Amino acid sequence: MPEKLLNPVKVGSTTLSSRVVMAPLTRSRAGQPGDVPTELNVEYYAQRASAGLIVTEASQISRQGQGYAWTPGIYTDAQEAGWKKIVDAVHAKGGRISAQLWHVGRISHTLLQENGTAPVAPSAITASSTKCFPVNPNRATASFEYCSPPRALETAEIPGIVAQYRQAAERALRAGFDFVEVHSANGYLLQQFLATGTNLRTDQYGGSLENRARLTLEAVDAVIGVVGADRTGVRLSPHFEFNDITDTDTEAITLYLAREFSRRGIAYLHIAEPVWVGGPALEQEFRRQLRAAFTGTLICCGGYDADSAEKLLADGLADAVAFGRPFIANPDLVERIRRGAPWNEADRSTFYGGGAHGYTDYPTLAP
Ligand code: PHB
Repeated sequence: MPEKLLNPVKVGSTTLSSRVVMAPLTRSRAGQPGDVPTELNVEYYAQRASAGLIVTEASQISRQGQGYAWTPGIYTDAQEAGWKKIVDAVHAKGGRISAQLWHVGRISHTLLQENGTAPVAPSAITASSTKCFPVNPNRATASFEYCSPPRALETAEIPGIVAQYRQAAERALRAGFDFVEVHSANGYLLQQFLATGTNLRTDQYGGSLENRARLTLEAVDAVIGVVGADRTGVRLSPHFEFNDITDTDTEAITLYLAREFSRRGIAYLHIAEPVWVGGPALEQEFRRQLRAAFTGTLICCGGYDADSAEKLLADGLADAVAFGRPFIANPDLVERIRRGAPWNEADRSTFYGGGAHGYTDYPTLAP
């Protein structure tokens, strides 16, 4: 039995029942109109409440921050009420849950933006090889389309972006979430600011590594101001090269941020390893540097099974491991790990959109 993985762990001031984390997973099943979490979403999350911690699917903090059809938001009263039902159901089953706050930046389309305006980005550089998934003008169907050319945010608009994070954190707090996770990974807005290829700004948000990291830190500080450092997490994805991201400084900026997060005493740092999109494995030396740079709970995610996760913990390179696709197909993943039982395979055709099929109908083990 993978003993370390199944041990409790204290994260901030919250104790998780195990080190098995459910990764954020876009499932595109929010209620329409309004991108509001539904009773079906409540059932899905409640089924997975035995995870040590659930990180919600990425949830846009504004309409501007949306890049895909039917993803849930966390910026309206109805969305907040929907999330509260999810949080209450997870808590009723003894689980813990973190709200992932998402702004896609340039990975969006005019069809998703208010009045058909351009998506926003640090610089006006199109993610020209990347598709997003906008709703069509009929609002009922969606299709994969190349991302629209973005416009560069004015310096004076940045406080408004930070305010979107603050307001979403206030909603998450009212909904009862245990943690709030700032999504600064996978090529979305905050990583667009971090990365040298997407940030050509000449103001205090561009140029030096410290300047490129500034918006992520301001968003994190806004969240800390609302929920406290001991309930704040951040997701980063060093060496991520999808969504047209290139970064000549990826390890240096990751380590700089890890040290800044340590200074602030945030609860956890969640690393999305590039293997999940076919990228390279992180080097051991970089893992060691990251471990040394961050003093809170370090969560790693990307293609782990129970044995490789246990080994990562045994090597002291992480405190918890997040599983994505395995949690789609195995609501009782923790119990399967405990019993050494086989894992169901996830069906790709039902990852995004649709209803209960491929969402809440994966089988659990017999008691
Ligand atoms: C996606 O919807 O495909 C998606 C969302 C958030 C991520 C990665 C992928 O961090």
